[in-house]
Amino acid sequence: MALLEVESLEAGYGKKTVLQGVSLRVDEGEIVSLLGHNGAGKSTTLKTILGLLPARGGRVRFAGEPWASGNPVGNVRRGIALVPQGRGCFPDLSVHENLMLGAYTRVDRAEISRRLDEIFELFPILAERRSQRAGTMSGGQQQMVAVGTALMQHPRLMMLDEPSIGLAPVLVQRVLETAVKVNRRFGTAILLVEQNIRTALEISQRAYVMKSGAVVLEKPAAELLASQDSWWALY
Ligand SMILES: Nc1ncnc2c1ncn2[C@@H]1O[C@H](COP(=O)(O)OP(=O)(O)OP(=O)(O)O)[C@@H](O)[C@H]1O
Ligand SMILES: [Mg+2]
Repeated sequence: MALLEVESLEAGYGKKTVLQGVSLRVDEGEIVSLLGHNGAGKSTTLKTILGLLPARGGRVRFAGEPWASGNPVGNVRRGIALVPQGRGCFPDLSVHENLMLGAYTRVDRAEISRRLDEIFELFPILAERRSQRAGTMSGGQQQMVAVGTALMQHPRLMMLDEPSIGLAPVLVQRVLETAVKVNRRFGTAILLVEQNIRTALEISQRAYVMKSGAVVLEKPAAELLASQDSWWALY
């Protein structure tokens, strides 16, 4: 069943139009990659879906219901989370304090504490270092903190914007395995933006390729993996 349905989405900054009619879909429990060269509009797509940027046209439905443009808090409550590009955690706060920031839309204390335990169980390193300042952890661990913070929101869809950026190649795989773990443990659907195309496709069921603010290709990930040389050069 479709969880996120984006149809002809338009958005931009000031006079500049960036998204010129983006259409894509993420099914319940699915992992989908959103690929494309620098400046194609991937981050703008994720920001508009969350509502950080108002849509200028098009329609989005989430969990079968119309979604609100330009309403990030409302969309977080509905179950959409974004781990933004770049440092997704607050370096001066402890791991625990970072995670608790993710619970800002939740009110049930018992539920918050249960969720925290689940996240610590999934990522034991975060439990070990719960009192440590996030900024003193490795890049890969900070990314885990960012993912954990998003998970505190109980998302049905987690959007990850280049989670492996700036990490050593050996860590890229590990960070993307984090996404798989989350997907398996909580059934969270994932919309993944990644420059490491091969690794991203390996964990995805389907992928979209964007160019100049529009989706130009949609295929099963396995098909794209088998023919990467022939399509990537086109975009
Ligand atoms: N805050 C902003 N103000 C004005 N223009 C912006 C802003 N953010 C992005 N843009 C422009 O929008 C276009 C798409 O940018 P976006 O960040 O969505 O691309 P991207 O596909 O995520 O690229 P990258 O792979 O480099 O992260 C680019 O031309 C960029 O210059
Ligand atoms: Mg980007």
